[in-house]
Amino acid sequence: MKVLVTGKNGQLGNELAKLCPTNVELELFSSKELDITNMAALNEVLITHSPDVVINAAAYTAVDKAETETEQAYAVNEQGAANLATVCKTIGAKLIHVSTDFVFDGTKTTPYEANDITNPLSVYGASKLAGEQAINNVLGSQAIIVRTAWVYSVFGNNFVKSMLNLMQQKEHLGIVADQIGTPTWAAGLAKMIWALATQQNQKSGINSTLNSNKTTILNWTDAGVASWFDFAVAIQELAIEKGLLSKAITIRPIPATSYPTPAKRPAFSVLNKAQAEQLSGVQTIHWRSQLSDMLDELALKI
Ligand SMILES: NC(=O)c1ccc[n+]([C@@H]2O[C@H](COP(=O)([O-])OP(=O)(O)OC[C@H]3O[C@@H](n4cnc5c(N)ncnc54)[C@H](OP(=O)(O)O)[C@@H]3O)[C@@H](O)[C@H]2O)c1
Repeated sequence: MKVLVTGKNGQLGNELAKLCPTNVELELFSSKELDITNMAALNEVLITHSPDVVINAAAYTAVDKAETETEQAYAVNEQGAANLATVCKTIGAKLIHVSTDFVFDGTKTTPYEANDITNPLSVYGASKLAGEQAINNVLGSQAIIVRTAWVYSVFGNNFVKSMLNLMQQKEHLGIVADQIGTPTWAAGLAKMIWALATQQNQKSGINSTLNSNKTTILNWTDAGVASWFDFAVAIQELAIEKGLLSKAITIRPIPATSYPTPAKRPAFSVLNKAQAEQLSGVQTIHWRSQLSDMLDELALKI
């Protein structure tokens, strides 16, 4: 089975490379090697490699910058996704595309279902939603969309690595306590995506199981619920335990209003993962346990 992955240098791209099953012939492309906004390049590369499945781990992910770099965000997240869908249709490949909890406005108080009403609060969220819609229009049941949230990994820049740096430099930190969601270790997400990708190569892929012409949307994060404050406290506790930090600093809960950002973020974005668990056969693991495993990996790298 041949799989082509875009966004090779990102958090998810790196984890997909690391966790690739042995029976998969994998081709990975960075943004320099394959720019998904470049239709001619996409046509050439995808027709040459002729993959069975394409996993799109490429995205414009600078949430705050997107408020001013609107065109760039839409070029990658909407047009890039549409381009990939169009070429996948031409070559008959399945597409697994990754999206975000930021398609929701966060006004719910119970976990979001895939078919809940979307209402993005930011340009990033709106551009990712536009990408989802483009894929559904072009590919329908030939694609699967996986919405995820709060992604971190030993690769790239993320909340966990920023916190570890700040905790080494500062005596006090104020962390937002009124935005609620679930952290996601990119390695766990990659494992679930590989389970989906492998199934897509079989005749009874997920969309045929669901008997729908629409693109299936699945939610995936780790298990459990946290605020950014809870997440930061856990990072400090576990990092001290593992020798990544030498001392504890004071971490205070603050409201989001005390930490204004250019992009608005949902106050609540816990996702219901039941359908993804059922269809992939992979069970979510509690975020604290996943964080512990990621910090073990980070400790080995340092
Ligand atoms: N990070 C999160 O917290 C989070 C939360 C929810 C959903 N997601 C979604 O999860 C997916 C993976 O995110 P991630 O955290 O792995 O992102 P990431 O670390 O920012 O990686 C994104 C990758 O996309 C590549 N890229 C950007 N523009 C491209 C283009 N025009 N053509 C080809 N590649 C391009 C980037 O390449 P360069 O490095 O060369 O720029 C980068 O390697 C994305 O769809 C994202 O929207 C992420």
